[in-house]
Amino acid sequence: MFFKFSAEQAHHIAFTLFKSILKLPVAKKISTSIFQYNNANLAQDLFGLHFPNPIGLAAGFDKDAKLVDELETLGFGFIEIGTVTPEPQAGNPQPRLFRLAEDRALINRMGFNNEGMLAAADRLKARKGKVIIGGNIGKNKLTPNEEAISDYEKAFDALYDYVDYFVINVSSPNTPNLRALQEKEPLKALLMAVQVRNKKKPTLKPVLLKIAPDLTESMLDDILEIVSEAQLSGIIATNTTISRENLITDQNALEHMGAGGLSGKPLQNRSTEVVRYLYKKSAGTVPIIAAGGIMNGKDAMGKLQAGASLVQVYTGFVYEGPGMIKRMSKYLAANYYQHKK
Ligand code: FNR
Repeated sequence: MFFKFSAEQAHHIAFTLFKSILKLPVAKKISTSIFQYNNANLAQDLFGLHFPNPIGLAAGFDKDAKLVDELETLGFGFIEIGTVTPEPQAGNPQPRLFRLAEDRALINRMGFNNEGMLAAADRLKARKGKVIIGGNIGKNKLTPNEEAISDYEKAFDALYDYVDYFVINVSSPNTPNLRALQEKEPLKALLMAVQVRNKKKPTLKPVLLKIAPDLTESMLDDILEIVSEAQLSGIIATNTTISRENLITDQNALEHMGAGGLSGKPLQNRSTEVVRYLYKKSAGTVPIIAAGGIMNGKDAMGKLQAGASLVQVYTGFVYEGPGMIKRMSKYLAANYYQHKK
């Protein structure tokens, strides 16, 4: 039914419907009993946090932390909100989200539309649940890269009390020049500055870096070096790609959609390659959260086998619906974690 609407309308309708249905506490209980799957073998302890299962919701779905309590009932092991910027911003003009149904993919150029750090912090403060929350932070479009550090510091401070881990997002293709912050020197300066902030707080929060799938091996090498120098807790690999390779969707339709980041099935292999490379090169010393084209439990297992410790889904969740997490959890319990004591 949702696929009859434009992709962004469908997102809003599903969002609003889900929110209003789950207003009733009894509905939350029913949703929990239908969708959650508890199995102690799925639990993961990583960077000081206890994840009940390794399947998270990737950033961008609940940018403003409006639906965290409701999404928790679907069985996610963790939920990443954001990308949150200091100031609210509208993002790019619509249309800016497109379905490539034959490819099981999406193209988006949302451009960090969000209500800003204070709105997100207020909502997280009021939440009732206890699911692990990641705070994915970025810079405002109008902030020049030379002043980007201050945007990340502001968002870090505003969310510090309400999130369990942070993600520094420098990999969205939809904010002009943002990805230039993945270059060695600006990246080092940014991560060091955030960690200085972190060290001034009562306790250190895990900070991870989210990277693009379009980086060369030598850039990945630099990233590993900087992540270790800045004592980050891990890497999220990957964001969406600017590549349009291996698509079934017709070339004219693609040109009509225009620029943006491609996610879903066609991104899967490249993202997994990045995970494998980072894992091997770091000899498994840097925890990796894998995102990119996970459409089912088998795909998630592929990421774990490549070296990821946890996984995240977005596009798969849009195509597969709310039962996806339980199906994936059961698959992983039966096929990947079955020997865990
Ligand atoms: C995203 N993604 C994203 N990532 C991020 O760090 N901040 C963001 O604000 C967004 N926004 C966003 C919007 C939309 C519509 C999509 C489809 C994706 C990227 C997302 O978190 C994930 O890294 C990629 O989509 C790859 O995973 P999937 O979608 O292939 O499972």
